[in-house]
Amino acid sequence: MTDQQDLAKTMLAEHALSLLEGHRVIGLGAGSTVMKVIDAIAASKRVLPTVIVASLATLDRCRSSGIEAELMQSVSHIDLYIDGADEVDSSFCCIKGKGGAMTGEKLCAEMAAEFIVLVDQTKLVQSLGSHWPVIAIEVVPWARSSVGRAIVKLGGKPALRAEKSDMGNEIIDCHGLDFAAPYTLSDRLNQITGVVAHGLFVHEKPTQVFSSDGNTVKALTIE
Ligand code: A5P
Repeated sequence: MTDQQDLAKTMLAEHALSLLEGHRVIGLGAGSTVMKVIDAIAASKRVLPTVIVASLATLDRCRSSGIEAELMQSVSHIDLYIDGADEVDSSFCCIKGKGGAMTGEKLCAEMAAEFIVLVDQTKLVQSLGSHWPVIAIEVVPWARSSVGRAIVKLGGKPALRAEKSDMGNEIIDCHGLDFAAPYTLSDRLNQITGVVAHGLFVHEKPTQVFSSDGNTVKALTIE
């Protein structure tokens, strides 16, 4: 990450503070941008009513920052969910999951009335797959070979990660997939037996995206 990207994430995290007002159940995703949001909340000494997190690392960071937080298993609604992304296109479709937390992130996104994505501007793309062309897929352990074979049939190159997911499943990074029809690709991946969730967020798009170049924060509109 460059200094400018780091600065952009810090500005976005500060901006996120202004979005929290009036929301009772706040969801926090995963990754370095979300960690900065947690730091900003902690520094502001703001007490949030209920905080739901998408990953164990986020849970740890909240707790070590003095923010009470919990995982999502007993929650069915989130008022405002804040997360980062690896890529965002002009219609707000996203690639997420570089950090391996896409299942928790997708659960939160689906439960959220408002889903805010914060990205440094290098992650904005005209078409998906031009900056980070990798779809991370969480897979039940017994299905790792059969899912790998299905990915190859779709034209992808599967690579098994060394680390397991927070839920104890395998994670397969898929390179070489064709992003020309992202909704169809998402549906095809969802149909593979053994797939828990994947990092293509097209049916689960954010309602709002903010980007920063390290100087200002911009609210984006869907083209
Ligand atoms: C975690 O699994 C990801 O989906 C993150 O949201 C994504 O990788 C963005 O991470 P950064 O905020 O670290 O750029």
